[in-house]
Formats: sequence, structure tokens, C-alpha cells
Amino acid sequence: MRLDRLVDYDQQTCAETLQAADLSDLWNYFLKGQADLFFSHEAELLADEPAWTTAQMVLELGSGNGAYLSRLSETFKDKKYLGVEKQSSFVEQSNAQFGCSGLVFVEGDAEEENELYTNQFDAVLFRLTLQHLKNPRLALQLAHQYLKQDGYVIIIDSYDPAKRCSHEIPSVEDASRQHNEHNKATLNGNRRITIEILEDLQNGNHSLNNLYEVARTSLDVQGNRLEEGIRFKSEQDRKRYFNHALLLLGILHNGYDVSVDFSKAYEELQVYLEDQDSWICPGMHFLVLKKI
Ligand SMILES: C[S@@+](CC[C@H](N)C(=O)[O-])C[C@H]1O[C@@H](n2cnc3c(N)ncnc32)[C@H](O)[C@@H]1O
Repeated sequence: MRLDRLVDYDQQTCAETLQAADLSDLWNYFLKGQADLFFSHEAELLADEPAWTTAQMVLELGSGNGAYLSRLSETFKDKKYLGVEKQSSFVEQSNAQFGCSGLVFVEGDAEEENELYTNQFDAVLFRLTLQHLKNPRLALQLAHQYLKQDGYVIIIDSYDPAKRCSHEIPSVEDASRQHNEHNKATLNGNRRITIEILEDLQNGNHSLNNLYEVARTSLDVQGNRLEEGIRFKSEQDRKRYFNHALLLLGILHNGYDVSVDFSKAYEELQVYLEDQDSWICPGMHFLVLKKI
């Protein structure tokens, strides 16, 4: 059974397969599917963004299995890309699958200084990574050091309260909430981090204030949308979201002990999938910071 084609299988087969799946397989298919689902929408945002269009040397901190950075390098061929990732297995896999002269992956830690990167990059990208870091403000201080003069940090991260959808999918919302509460209680990641950074910069209450100014934000500090943002509505998007949501539940269940009713989730996602008028605006925050 293919973890990238869950939509082709019945409820029971999906539930059994997801519960038995290996966690690293789930992560791999999830990151690949997530890149497929979001990429075209985010590429449209980047194509109009001066911080991106002017960049030649791009550093991604937390590049995962390389699926997203490879899509960027295929689409925006005028740049050179370095992906830094903490997990060595992801780095090996990324280089084997996508590595070429303009796209290289290395093992490294976003929260530890690497002097080799000082003044080397026009743009530093944090995509769905800042929320996982123990010390995201330190990572932003280091990113400032890695940027050339007039460089930018581009942050693309999730902010759940900004999500809007035509159909509630309670199984996914409940599982995500359980996971977020656990992370908050154990100080393990923070899914509000981009709003907190925005608050720091707008209220001048952190040393980051001397390093960056806000060049663009898709949300205000209350989490209200300032831009229309991404909307999944095509049939292809609905199928991809179906797969994405089930894989997420598989990861939360198998990797983080979150209780999940896969059959109920499957039924709720089927309703969403089969309604041609359904849509989802994911709660994403697009935040661009200019080095000062
Ligand atoms: C959700 S994944 C996102 C991957 C990729 N940016 C994408 O958009 O597909 C977050 C990644 O950050 C990595 N990561 C977490 N902490 C890190 C750190 N301190 N330094 C570098 N990578 C880190 C994780 O191993 C994981 O691969």
C-alpha cells in the first residue's frame, strides 16, 4: 500500500496501514506530500516578494528531507541553495536524491554558530522549522550573522488560529490540539512563535529589535489576516490534503502517543474530499524580516 496514495484505499486498510507504519516512512511521505500540497501556492507568494526575487544565495535552516528546497531550486533556477539539517539521515537522503552543484545539504544545527556562513547569504529561510526550535530567537540572531548586508530572513510557519475551512475536520483539530498542549507543557516547540517574534519586533521588547525590521507580514499580532493567503480548493488540493491529514495523524499517533480514531478521521475527510465546494485556508504565517 502506498502512503502517498491513501485516497485510493478504504477506511480499514488506511487505519491498519497507518497504525503499523514506520515513523521515518511517515515523516518522509508527510514532508514530500506537504511540499506538493503547499509548493505552488507558496511559490506564487515568493515570486512577488522582493526579499526572494533579489536573492542569489539562499540558506534553509531545517531542510528536512530536502523535498521543499529541491522544489524551490527547480522553480527558481537563478539561485544557489544550501540546506542545513540536524538529522544526518535526512541530509544523506537529500544529497542522494536532489543534490547538484546549485543545491547542497549539510548536517548542522540552526541553534549553533557556524562561522563559515558569516555574511554569505542573501536570504535565510525557516520553513516550518522555527516552531520546533528550543531557542528560536538565538537561531534568528545567528541568521542575522549569516546574512549579507540588506539580506532577509523569510519565515513560513503555521499559526493554527488563522486556519479557516468550509468543513470542520474535528479528528485532525483534536489530535493537533492534544499534541500542541503536550509540547507547550514540556516546552518542546511553540506554534505561536512567529506571532511572538512579530510582537517582539513591533513592541521593541527584545534584542532582535536591533537586528531586524519587519518587511512583510501576512498576519497582525492578533493573528488576523492582512493578506488573502493560501486557499486549497481544487480537486488535486483536496486529494493532497486528505493524504496530508491522514499522514499527520499517523505521525501524531505513532510518534507522540496522541490518541487518534483513524476511522472517524477518514469519514470526516471523505466528506471534505467529495464536496466540490469545499476549501481550506491553512493557518500559515508568511513573515519577512530585513536585516538592519
Ligand atoms: C517540519 S520539518 C520542515 C522541513 C522543511 N523545512 C520543509 O519545509 O519541508 C522541520 C525540520 O527541522 C529540523 N530541525 C529541528 N531542529 C533543528 C535544528 N536545531 N537545526 C537544524 N534543523 C532542525 C528537523 O529535524 C526537521 O527536519
